[in-house]
Amino acid sequence: MKIFIDTADIDEIRDAAAMGLVDGVTTNPSLIAKTGRTLEECIRDICEIVDGPISAEVLATDAEGIVTEGRKLAAIHENIVVKVPLIAEGLKAVQVFAAEGIKTNVTLCFSPTQALFAAKAGATYVSPFIGRIDDISGEGMELIEQIVTIYSNYGFQTEVLAASIRHPVHVVQAALLGAHAATIPHKIIHQLLKHPLTDAGLARFLEDAKKTPAG
Ligand code: G3P
Repeated sequence: MKIFIDTADIDEIRDAAAMGLVDGVTTNPSLIAKTGRTLEECIRDICEIVDGPISAEVLATDAEGIVTEGRKLAAIHENIVVKVPLIAEGLKAVQVFAAEGIKTNVTLCFSPTQALFAAKAGATYVSPFIGRIDDISGEGMELIEQIVTIYSNYGFQTEVLAASIRHPVHVVQAALLGAHAATIPHKIIHQLLKHPLTDAGLARFLEDAKKTPAG
């Protein structure tokens, strides 16, 4: 399973990348806004740190505008993946990008049929937002299962990128269901890493080592 980090915060990306845990990065307009910098500034810095797919989201909502914006983003670096909303105009733009060899991440996916259409349009990734489905008393994980099954039934190449991850169990379940990738906030990457028995075991070893005569 590929691990992407869901942030535009450079320090968070550096930290996770230094552990070898970042196959790619996803951003969105809300994450960019938190940095107080422009999308282009953030993306250029991220591309310096991570050699993998970096999702940058368009703001236009008409196909022509999405294509224009997406081409500009794609020209920034070869690793840019243009993030496009899962709306009719978005799918029109995805077809154009696919024909031009520009990678896309079709975002804000909340149903299996939306995911099927994204794949048919030629999306590189589809991003089902599982946490936001759970937020309204749905079962986000069911959506992952449905999309993985549909894509596998018909041999679609589009990768399922589990997004809107809120806790470690989301990552475990998405991996068990065969999601190709998960995009995970920095805090949750550390939660996934930490284990109380590792910490206790390390503390014990360090304590016991003090009893060993210096060699
Ligand atoms: O990158 C998009 C996605 O991961 C958003 O997550 O927590 O805002 O629903 P969240």
